[in-house]
Amino acid sequence: MGQTYKLSPSILAADFNRLGEQIQLVEQAGATYLHIDVMDGDFVPSISFGMPVIRSLRRESKLIFDVHLMVSNPERYIEVFADCGSDLITVHVEACRQIDRVIQQIKDCGCKAGVALNPVTSLHTLDYIIDQVDMILIMTVNPGFGGQEYIKTSTRKIAKLREGLNDLGLSTDIQVDGGIRKDNVDVVLNAGANVIVSGTSIFSGDIEQNVKDYLQIFRQRTETN
Ligand code: DX5
Ligand code: ZN
Repeated sequence: MGQTYKLSPSILAADFNRLGEQIQLVEQAGATYLHIDVMDGDFVPSISFGMPVIRSLRRESKLIFDVHLMVSNPERYIEVFADCGSDLITVHVEACRQIDRVIQQIKDCGCKAGVALNPVTSLHTLDYIIDQVDMILIMTVNPGFGGQEYIKTSTRKIAKLREGLNDLGLSTDIQVDGGIRKDNVDVVLNAGANVIVSGTSIFSGDIEQNVKDYLQIFRQRTETN
């Protein structure tokens, strides 16, 4: 069965002075997800934005809000992020004391549940939760900042994960985040990723055209598969 590819533009790279307008552009161009990076200054060095921003964006957008919590002990905030309008909530395995509980908490709020792994976190951390999650996020940079270089060892990690999922008969989404551009997206798609996050390569230059270029890459792969 062919993969369904999705593009999740990361607003971390948007111009916050024109945020609503730029989100409309990605929506008009055909994106279906919106990647929203929440940073707490503890799990990662930087602080981004939080609930009031998401709540406000929710009023104007029908995109699937893909909320990436780079937050220590995120179980403290799941209900409130669900209430703000998140559709999919991703938490880091490194940030949770009992990740299986947090996954259940996300689902109990009616959201899809994702788990994220930092670049050096082993795939074995997924062993006992792999069949409980809707999406696995393989970080392809160390989280905390946009505009970093893709970490090349991520490619075999993605491939190994897709192979493991196939062996288990699971078609779980694999998301990749960090350093993805139009000129290297094929590498992660070939490895088995199907949900592509990109900030810098979407919000620099012609936003609508950038989204369309990615969607065209996806379409070509779907047609040739
Ligand atoms: C990094 C964030 C990413 C970031 C990606 O911590 O999780 O979502 O926005 O940005 P680019 O595409 O610029 O690497
Ligand atoms: Zn992210």
